[in-house]
Amino acid sequence: MRDLSLHILDIIQNSVAANASLIEISIHEDVEKDLLKITIKDNGKGMSKEFVKIATDPYTTSRTTRKVGLGIPLLKQNAERTGGSLSITSELGKGTILEATFIPSNIDCLSLGDIAGVIALTVSGNPLINFIYNHNINGNLYTFNTKEVKEILEGISIAEPSVCRYLKEMIQSNLEEIQIGTFGYKT
Ligand SMILES: Nc1ncnc2c1ncn2[C@@H]1O[C@H](COP(=O)(O)OP(=O)(O)O)[C@@H](O)[C@H]1O
Ligand SMILES: [Mg+2]
Repeated sequence: MRDLSLHILDIIQNSVAANASLIEISIHEDVEKDLLKITIKDNGKGMSKEFVKIATDPYTTSRTTRKVGLGIPLLKQNAERTGGSLSITSELGKGTILEATFIPSNIDCLSLGDIAGVIALTVSGNPLINFIYNHNINGNLYTFNTKEVKEILEGISIAEPSVCRYLKEMIQSNLEEIQIGTFGYKT
């Protein structure tokens, strides 16, 4: 995976496949603590404890019996390479929380990449799912809720390509502002 936004895109697909109706993506960048935390929470079908182990560890099952992909193990490997970690909390019928931490100063830490593009594409590509996106950069929080966006759109589909482009630009400019600290809620 080239950057963390593509990992996020991949992990969100798991929540979509698990039939989630609400997916919350939270990113916390903290330069002082030298920490980057990505949390993806869904209300999808969840996993049993045993299955969480299988999904997290690529070696728990042999090649021939492993029927699941490597999205989670690859993200885990990229987190651990920086000195960070990955954890999954899940409950059958309730949902799943995946949390990955990274140490940004580590030379092996991937960049975040085009997160605005990934969020816009995900939101627009899954019009029936509600998304909440929280991005905190050094204590400045930008938050985005598709429920509110759908209300503002007054019947125009969130799946429209023009809406997707608009969302990407909106997220991008808000992220630039919280980066320099001129906008957002202080946390
Ligand atoms: N959010 C989730 N909710 C329910 N099941 C999940 C979730 N994320 C992952 N899983 C389960 O773990 C498996 C492994 O996920 P992953 O490593 O991304 O590989 P892949 O999606 O290619 O199978 C999935 O196939 C799915 O069964
Ligand atoms: Mg996957």
